[in-house]
Amino acid sequence: MRMEERYVVREIRADEWPTVKALRLDALRDPVARLAFLETYEDAAARPDTFWQERAARSADGAGVVRQFVAVAPDGVWAGTLTVLMEEAGTKDWAGYPVERRQGHVVGVFIRPEHRGRGLIETLFAVGLEWAWERGASRVRLLVHEDNGRAQGAYRKAGFVPSGATVDLAGGEGPELELVVERG
Ligand SMILES: CC(C)(COP(=O)(O)OP(=O)(O)OC[C@H]1O[C@@H](n2cnc3c(N)ncnc32)[C@H](O)[C@@H]1OP(=O)(O)O)[C@@H](O)C(=O)NCCC(=O)NCCS
Repeated sequence: MRMEERYVVREIRADEWPTVKALRLDALRDPVARLAFLETYEDAAARPDTFWQERAARSADGAGVVRQFVAVAPDGVWAGTLTVLMEEAGTKDWAGYPVERRQGHVVGVFIRPEHRGRGLIETLFAVGLEWAWERGASRVRLLVHEDNGRAQGAYRKAGFVPSGATVDLAGGEGPELELVVERG
């Protein structure tokens, strides 16, 4: 857990799945959602409660494969989130590409509009990256659409640099840039 100004960044609990769902649905209504996320609001809204229950339980189960972090504002609102997946060398990632070394993969990055521009994203990353390093990641990567300038700016501030790789994801809207931060 980490405090930054008035926010607390922490991992989610299994019983918080309704809030996980609500935050995700709000993210999918963002004007840049089409570039930022690989599912639609309609698809997510149609998922059964068991989907959200399993998602939250998986993050909280201690297996160390995936963890969702949230930044909680003083009034209890979940102001932002990101999720770190651990990827193992020799496997294929969720998009079908080979994974060459043990690494973290950050997905589902979202900050509510009224909480943006305050450096909260850097605090979320500090906690998320620490979790990946503790699990032996040699680097952490993420994919960002080439037209999502604000997200790229935020990632740069958090220490990410382009790896040079670009990918076209099935269901995506065109080229995504891979950004990485190497273990220090
Ligand atoms: C991406 C997101 C989490 C970043 O959080 P944030 O609080 O908005 O980020 P910040 O404002 O702290 O940082 C953005 C940086 O990019 C800069 N920036 C803004 N628009 C930009 C643009 N079009 N091109 C380049 N840089 C830009 C900002 O100036 C800022 O840098 P600065 O602090 O040095 O001035 C948030 O904007 C968000 O949730 N966006 C919608 C969902 C999304 O795009 N998620 C990412 C999916 S990959």
